[in-house]
Amino acid sequence: MPVSGRDLYDDPRFFEGYHRLRQTGTGINDAIEIPALARLLPPVEGASVIDLGCGAGALARRLAAAGAEDVVAVDASERMLEAAAPHPKVRYVRADLETLTLPSSCADLAVSSMALHYVADYPGLVRRIADWLRPGGRLVFSHEHPVCTAHRLMPGWIPTGDGTIWPLDDYAAEGPRTQNWIIEGVVKYHRHTATLINALLDAGLELTGISEPAPDAAALAARPALAEHLRRPPILVLAAQRAAP
Ligand SMILES: C[S@@+](CC[C@H](N)C(=O)[O-])C[C@H]1O[C@@H](n2cnc3c(N)ncnc32)[C@H](O)[C@@H]1O
Repeated sequence: MPVSGRDLYDDPRFFEGYHRLRQTGTGINDAIEIPALARLLPPVEGASVIDLGCGAGALARRLAAAGAEDVVAVDASERMLEAAAPHPKVRYVRADLETLTLPSSCADLAVSSMALHYVADYPGLVRRIADWLRPGGRLVFSHEHPVCTAHRLMPGWIPTGDGTIWPLDDYAAEGPRTQNWIIEGVVKYHRHTATLINALLDAGLELTGISEPAPDAAALAARPALAEHLRRPPILVLAAQRAAP
């Protein structure tokens, strides 16, 4: 039975497995994704920030600790928000990104870490984000890389005679994919890299940064298994800006 991103993290089996993954640091977040996102973030001193799909709120609290004036941290999952530690500058909101409404020009920065590949109407959300940003405001987000979401079956590495190969297939067919990840039936959305970027441009934003991060030497020395991420990109990170007046 397919499980959408908005319900996934409240599934007790998934929540338990995901929690363990993050606690043990065996995923790609700590070694690859968090540093890559940080490299594209603007200074946040005094900024009003929105964190879309905040999970347990670690990024929201980091931005608050770095000087953000206030952070609205939004997630659909009750369990994830229950696991989020309080912070005086972070307001947690339980809401679905597909329908979230916020006041126009309420934020200097919108961030999202590994959540937007769960959203079906990505162009619609980007248009709303563009409206929430003040002139000069930034959007910075990470997304599962289209090379990883393309294959209809999302089978992961495929054994060959003397190793493994990453299957890139079905790239042109955008839409939902169902993956077995921690539990069966996890629904994510495959989009072309061009779609991810063009939606930003169509919403009137300027592209200011793009990154396809790989593990660095220190990360590889600490965890040699990360070397598989040198063979195909796990993540795409994009940064955009609403034009200043
Ligand atoms: C991979 S987790 C990332 C959490 C956090 N950003 C982090 O990096 O630790 C994805 C998060 O997106 C949230 N999410 C997925 N679909 C959502 C939706 N439609 N509306 C709101 N949150 C959603 C999930 O509940 C989950 O907390």
